[in-house]
Amino acid sequence: MERASSNDLKLVSMSLHSSSQIDAEALSRRVHELGDWFHNLNLHGVPTAPNHFLGDFPNIKWNKIAGEIPQELAGATVLDIGCNAGFYSIQMKRRGAGRVLGIDIDDRYLNQARFAANTLQLDIEFEKRSVYDVESIQGQFDYVFLMGVFYHLRYPLYALDQVIKKVAGKLIFQTMLRGSRVAREWEPDYSFWNEDVFLEQDFPSMYFIEHKYSGDQTNWWIPNRGGMEGMLRSGGLRVLSHPEEETWICEPGDVKRGSEYVVDLELRGAL
Ligand SMILES: C[S@@+](CC[C@H](N)C(=O)[O-])C[C@H]1O[C@@H](n2cnc3c(N)ncnc32)[C@H](O)[C@@H]1O
Repeated sequence: MERASSNDLKLVSMSLHSSSQIDAEALSRRVHELGDWFHNLNLHGVPTAPNHFLGDFPNIKWNKIAGEIPQELAGATVLDIGCNAGFYSIQMKRRGAGRVLGIDIDDRYLNQARFAANTLQLDIEFEKRSVYDVESIQGQFDYVFLMGVFYHLRYPLYALDQVIKKVAGKLIFQTMLRGSRVAREWEPDYSFWNEDVFLEQDFPSMYFIEHKYSGDQTNWWIPNRGGMEGMLRSGGLRVLSHPEEETWICEPGDVKRGSEYVVDLELRGAL
């Protein structure tokens, strides 16, 4: 099947709106033609992923997070990394965000996102771009979403540290977790001879998946809660809230050592 351009998608969604009547049958057909959806969006009554294995996803997550984000965003800027079909971008635009930029590496999802935004008549930018390449995006954003991406990365901490550079206001962060969900205080240092601490299930850790998990070979690293919260703090983020088991809302704290970000110091061997 040929890939649809942004203009094609605009024309299709305009024709679906013609005579101000939504043609539900044509809309359903187009939704189906755009492939399997991971986001269950409601496009004028047409659900895009009604049989999602996680239920009404990501509405079930958003319902727990939505109250932590202002209802009226008054032109705030938003970067949605790994935007998929644009669920979070759409929510933020509906709350009055100004510039909303969604990025993803997958054309199928980007085409779905463009179609959804056009169908809902929302002005959202979608670009094919990797999280590893966020530095090439100009400026910082009031809200940065990094939801469901971290564990799909072979170099997750590198990506997180790059993303931190883009956060002017808040980072809304979600990852799959496995292992312990208990956050505990740990000593700032342990003796070389103390191996017992590594046997404690709550000790901050991240599981490496050599082959596949849940049939997906892009599930590379899955942290436990202590490991994830440690990485967020270690990048200089302050955790403001934890509205949902896998989601943290953070703001930049000591993200620089001196005048440089941690990732840049590390890459030039100066950390
Ligand atoms: C599990 S989905 C999460 C989608 C959405 N953020 C959410 O939370 O519902 C992971 C998304 O990350 C995208 N992704 C994977 N690797 C990426 C990368 N290196 N850069 C940007 N997006 C990536 C995938 O294409 C997919 O859309």
